[in-house]
Amino acid sequence: MTNNEKIASLIHIDGVSKEEILSLLTPPKDLAFADVALPCFRFAKALRKSPVEIASGLADEITSSLPSFLLSCTALNGYLNFKFSREDLAKTTLLSVLRDQENYGRSDEGHGKTICIDFSSVNIAKPFHIGHLSSTVIGGALARAFDFLGYNVVRINHLGDWGTQFGKMIVAYKMWGNEEEVEKGGVKALHKLYVKFHEEAEKDDSLNDLGRAYFKKIEDGDEEALALFEKFKTISLAEAKRVYERLGIEFDSYAGESFYNDKMQPVLDKLERAGLLVDSDGAKVVQVGEDMPPCLLVRSDGATLYATRDLAAAYYRKNTYDFYKCLYVVAYQQNLHFKQVFKVLELLGEPWAKDLEHVAFGMVSLADGTMSSRQGKVVYLEDVLNSAVQKAQKVIEEKSPNLENKSEIAEQVGVGAVIFGALFNSRIKDITFSYDKVLNFDGETCPYVQYTHARASSLLEKAGAFDAGKADFTCLENAHELITLISSFKNAVKLAAEKREPSVITRHAVDIAEAFNKYYIDNRILNAPDGEKEARLALTFAVRQVLKNALTLLGIAAPEKM
Ligand code: ARG
Repeated sequence: MTNNEKIASLIHIDGVSKEEILSLLTPPKDLAFADVALPCFRFAKALRKSPVEIASGLADEITSSLPSFLLSCTALNGYLNFKFSREDLAKTTLLSVLRDQENYGRSDEGHGKTICIDFSSVNIAKPFHIGHLSSTVIGGALARAFDFLGYNVVRINHLGDWGTQFGKMIVAYKMWGNEEEVEKGGVKALHKLYVKFHEEAEKDDSLNDLGRAYFKKIEDGDEEALALFEKFKTISLAEAKRVYERLGIEFDSYAGESFYNDKMQPVLDKLERAGLLVDSDGAKVVQVGEDMPPCLLVRSDGATLYATRDLAAAYYRKNTYDFYKCLYVVAYQQNLHFKQVFKVLELLGEPWAKDLEHVAFGMVSLADGTMSSRQGKVVYLEDVLNSAVQKAQKVIEEKSPNLENKSEIAEQVGVGAVIFGALFNSRIKDITFSYDKVLNFDGETCPYVQYTHARASSLLEKAGAFDAGKADFTCLENAHELITLISSFKNAVKLAAEKREPSVITRHAVDIAEAFNKYYIDNRILNAPDGEKEARLALTFAVRQVLKNALTLLGIAAPEKM
């Protein structure tokens, strides 16, 4: 049982469940006042007393036979403030990390619930550019966090693999491309053809008609057109998977837009029957309210749209996975799109429309002017990873020239820095990405956290096996802040999942690394007296383990040596 659970079972108020008390417990603003606090305002009605009276009554009651896990329980302004026994907290926390190890922080609270996460969702034949970085790593981290909390997670890559642009691609390929170039050049070669198409179409509009005609051929299942379309898809997916592998990302489904070609009509029929589909200059739209433009679902030429496919996808996911929540990790530029789609489902009376959630995030651009997406240049994610790894290699070469497998570590540090940089701020903020900033070994960065993990590892390696049973936990009084951070790791993961905000985990990892490095300066570990040494090694072990668990959840490697 955690300390919070112990507190929850100490308090008995008619009509208030243990779970409710547990959910009301909050961390204090300042550890000097309390380790955890219980606001008593919610109980005023049930008990017909003021929160101040309730808090002081409860404090008296609890203090009269104070359990050993508590140091004190006091009332202040309607809050009940608890301080944990330093020794007890240190002991229970560290022993549970030693026991649970890579499972420390895991829970089964999500048992029986399925969460679909639509993330990364790259576009075929288009560059896997830095704009997809956030979606990929936020979605990946959320998927791992929910999995850690016992949910059944379905990872979906809703590929952008439909639209007239594929007709244009075929025209461009047939006119200016060739097999060898495309096989060798991959998506970059495809993209070049696409750009060329637009340049030429400026001068000769008939190319656009040709593009449309070829798209029609794909739709009609023309053999040659389909084969080319599949070729583009294979090339694009192979490249995307290379990036996913480096980022430690996997998907359960690659059902993209084209998958829904035969699944839209039933939805349109449903809308028609409900009287929601209205004619607008030959097109079909749904009016979604005063505050939004209508949701366009069928163009006047009969073509369906991105939104039409998202409606079909929502039904498909509900029917296939019976999700508890379905998250869409997509840039905030698509706010309106998702509001419209969700509203259409709500108008259709689907009770699960409320379980669809757009997890929006801000834009990423590069500080380094040579590769700014603002200048209209495409920044390939793979190039960003490669640059980061190269720069990490240089730093490692300077800092630890004798390290074994330097290139493997450089990959872990470079890729980790890119992921961590994208997950450090709350997701809605725009990010200006700077290699120097994310690769700094001293800032609030990935290398800093990885380095702290490696430092703890090497300490433990030097110490060899130790017996935590011999630890004297009273000596860890001055590590209280650090121990509190370790003990609240589970809460941090929970909060990250609840708020769909991996930055909670990122920051928690940085806080632990900082607290440990501070502790390490002032306290001897290896040559401490018996009892103290074991306690501090147990602390070091816990720090290493929690940092590793945090990094793993973020999709980042934790090298033992750096
Ligand atoms: N392919 C889209 C893009 O790159 C993102 C798709 C997001 N998912 C969805 N179900 N609409 O902008």
